[in-house]
Amino acid sequence: MFDPKHTCLVVVGAQWGDEGKGKLVDVLAERADQVVRYQGGANAGHTVDLGATSFVLHQIPSGILHARTTCLIGNGVVLDPEQLFAEIDEVAAKGVRVEGRLFISDRAHLVLPYHKLLDRAHEASQQIGTTGRGIGPTYEAKIGRRGLRVADLRDLARARAILAEGIARANQTMQLLGATEKASLDEHMAMLERLAPRILPLAKDTGKLVFRALKEGKRVLLEGAQGALLDVDHGTYPFVTSSNTTAGGACTGAGIGPTYIDGVLGVVKAYTTRVGNGPLPTEAEAPNEEKLRKLGHEFGATTGRPRRCGWFDAMVVRYSVRVNGLTGLAVTKLDVLDTFAEIPVGVSYNNADGTPCDVMPADVESLGGVKPVYEVLPGWQKDTSGARKLADLPPAARAYLDRLQDLSEAPIRYVSVGTRRDQIIEV
Ligand code: IMP
Ligand code: MG
Repeated sequence: MFDPKHTCLVVVGAQWGDEGKGKLVDVLAERADQVVRYQGGANAGHTVDLGATSFVLHQIPSGILHARTTCLIGNGVVLDPEQLFAEIDEVAAKGVRVEGRLFISDRAHLVLPYHKLLDRAHEASQQIGTTGRGIGPTYEAKIGRRGLRVADLRDLARARAILAEGIARANQTMQLLGATEKASLDEHMAMLERLAPRILPLAKDTGKLVFRALKEGKRVLLEGAQGALLDVDHGTYPFVTSSNTTAGGACTGAGIGPTYIDGVLGVVKAYTTRVGNGPLPTEAEAPNEEKLRKLGHEFGATTGRPRRCGWFDAMVVRYSVRVNGLTGLAVTKLDVLDTFAEIPVGVSYNNADGTPCDVMPADVESLGGVKPVYEVLPGWQKDTSGARKLADLPPAARAYLDRLQDLSEAPIRYVSVGTRRDQIIEV
């Protein structure tokens, strides 16, 4: 999708996350000069399979695996510093040079141990099914104007004052929620004193770096995390994450204006999965759900939880095309469907009373009550994992993709037929 007129691309998840963005970013990053993560945090788990080794990246942009790219963690990310360095050390141990190639926005907010305690305490009553990584409480603090940012580490006395207030509130909240744990200011400060000397050399005005790269005609890839239906505004609220996972988040979270963006690639699985609670209209029944999970290795990359599995939901993808302004789709994991004799596709919804539902319901009660209308497409029952161009695919697989494209109202640009880097078809 990169060409001289399209130098700034966004890659987003168009369902409930885990669509395979890590792999697509890895593929596109080969042609990118800069890769920027712009929202979410260590709740994400981006798996990249190089054949000989595989990587699960949580905060480092998937572009790190291409030696030529510079990777940025934008202001919109909530950064877990301890986890970041664990991740840096892990990829470095596998032979990836990180030094001089990874920078962090000095405006990014820090996820601290007390946010994780709060996440757990809230989860006991709210049961969103969060990843427990402290994401929600850190964004709450950000919007509440009491967050701690990377830039604050330049003055640890100021950091201490911000933290003292945050931790006192957190301990009150936890008491209110009936949690017995307590966060300690001294322990937090000891951690920050230890980590600040490692974080600060990486801290930059990353928005400016993106701007400069674009001005110089370089290719920039903006890497989203999670998926559109987990967006705090457009997702299945309240069963969502706490950031804007849709393409608009790329502007605010990377620090550039919308006029710089030339294209938005939406990554969709050839079926649908969701991890955590909340409605999933096309959820499959046994034994197909189990079969999809097993063949697709559908277990959370961050938490190991089994993902809920279902059929392709065109209502979701059309919605995603709209809220993201998708200019192309990447369909992943087509090979997972190789052995099915018949493949249902959700084309639309009916309301609980049988009337057609032509908008994505805003409330989870209505969405939980819809009945998907299915079209059953014939399976191909052949191995697609070796296909490298559309012509290599069995006719039924091509017909399946054609139907997804028609229903989604966006052109398919990539088809992925396996986890490895080379298992990709460029359309
Ligand atoms: P949180 O982001 O940890 O607050 O979790 C909120 C919801 O988003 C839960 O349903 C999580 O399972 C889901 N979620 C968060 N990150 C991811 C992801 O990277 N992939 C899929 N689901 C996610
Ligand atoms: Mg994931």
